[in-house]
Amino acid sequence: MNSHYHRDEVGAVASMITMKDYLLEQISSRSIVVGIVGLGYVGLPLAVEMAKAGFETIGFDVQDTKVDMVNSGQNYIGDVADEDISTLVKSGIMSATTDFKKCASCGFIAICVPTPLDKHQQPDTSYIEQSVKEIAKHLKPATIVVLESTTYPGTTEELVKYLLEEGSGLQSGTDFYLGFSPERVDPGNRAFKTKNTPKVVGAIGSDAIEVISSMYEAVLVGGVVRVSSPRIAEMEKILENTYRNVNIGLINELAMLCNHMNIDIWEVIDAAKTKPYGFSAFYPGPGLGGHCIPLDPYYLSWKAREHGFHTSMIEASMAVNDRMPVYCVDRASRILNRFGKPINGSSIIILGVAYKQDIDDYRESPALKVLDELEGRGALVSFFDPWVSEFQHNNKTYRSLSNLESEKLGAFDLVMICTAHTNVDYSQVQENANYIFDTRNAMKHITERDNIEVL
Ligand SMILES: NC(=O)c1ccc[n+]([C@@H]2O[C@H](COP(=O)([O-])OP(=O)(O)OC[C@H]3O[C@@H](n4cnc5c(N)ncnc54)[C@H](O)[C@@H]3O)[C@@H](O)[C@H]2O)c1
Repeated sequence: MNSHYHRDEVGAVASMITMKDYLLEQISSRSIVVGIVGLGYVGLPLAVEMAKAGFETIGFDVQDTKVDMVNSGQNYIGDVADEDISTLVKSGIMSATTDFKKCASCGFIAICVPTPLDKHQQPDTSYIEQSVKEIAKHLKPATIVVLESTTYPGTTEELVKYLLEEGSGLQSGTDFYLGFSPERVDPGNRAFKTKNTPKVVGAIGSDAIEVISSMYEAVLVGGVVRVSSPRIAEMEKILENTYRNVNIGLINELAMLCNHMNIDIWEVIDAAKTKPYGFSAFYPGPGLGGHCIPLDPYYLSWKAREHGFHTSMIEASMAVNDRMPVYCVDRASRILNRFGKPINGSSIIILGVAYKQDIDDYRESPALKVLDELEGRGALVSFFDPWVSEFQHNNKTYRSLSNLESEKLGAFDLVMICTAHTNVDYSQVQENANYIFDTRNAMKHITERDNIEVL
């Protein structure tokens, strides 16, 4: 069917069938090769799903260690099954490389590179730019390119399209298809994974959206939600994360107020969430963490300023959320004070440094801000995390206690729970700790509560 169409032809497509039909056929026959650029928390699970659906999949990354691990069948992401990587790599359907020349053989390329903030809290799109420039050098006609990284509305149409066209000499819409489809992976979520989470897709042109949707429909089972443009899809993703950020900001502020009023915020939330409509529960904590919720709203605030607009709700919630680590250390300090101890010289163990429960990711974790604040005030800080054995921070290596033996726990003036991991024996913690400040309500099921204070 595709004998009149050759991907190696540079320039406009001269064929009996359209680029759209050619690509739809390539997808349905599983002959299109998939390239996943960025093999991290988002890219590796996506690469695995693509390969499991029968597409030859090449992962691209700039880190040799990740590429080597994939090629030797080793997994390094919690949400991916170890046996999936080894089976797929052994069968030859999945591989990884640092060599972007191999993009030339890919008909579908998804970009899953980081989108952090710079030191002025402004979007750092350099990873997108670098990867897109590399892709552009090797882009062939009839390729589908989809950006999955979270970013400000307009990135696909203003930045990625420009770089791809300039670097390849090809035109979006006639020579290649371009779209945006946000990744919604929620690390550690056992019910919803890449495979069964609905996928929002926005693209430039009706043919592009049809082809991109068909690709995801061939792989995922959560359904594809088509929207009318990449910027709708970009904004939709930022709305999801801003919604969480602002609601967590609200609940953190109420938690601080409730403490003044001697009201248990956790009981308040539990009661409120019995309302069967119109209320979604959010919980307070020592601050926001991870690669998304604390950072993404700044992408929107930055873009909004181009339009002379101030995102005041975002700024207000950021201010509350950013204050939480210091607020929690103030509360810890008050607890120690009750026992006649200054924070300076007290030994404190942080229980949980990952940014949320049951995962090993400690990027942007509020526990690290708590740690900085405690150390800054002279506390002697240790940590235990069943998911994170060690981490680098402030040019230092911090190592987790290997276990929570009773005598070890009893030696600390205070246990500060920063992450509510489920694989911790909280009864044992309660029995052996001198005092516990639980910023996550991780010990809610413990009935003996004389030595527990909750945020
Ligand atoms: N982690 C999440 O929970 C999550 C959820 C939804 C969306 N996102 C978004 O997805 C994107 C990726 O996030 P992540 O958590 O997977 O990041 P990550 O840091 O885990 O992985 C990114 C990978 O990209 C690689 N990389 C960097 N520059 C590259 C380049 N020029 N070419 C090829 N590879 C390159 C890095 O080496 C790394 O392996 C971000 O925009 C993030 O906001 C993340």
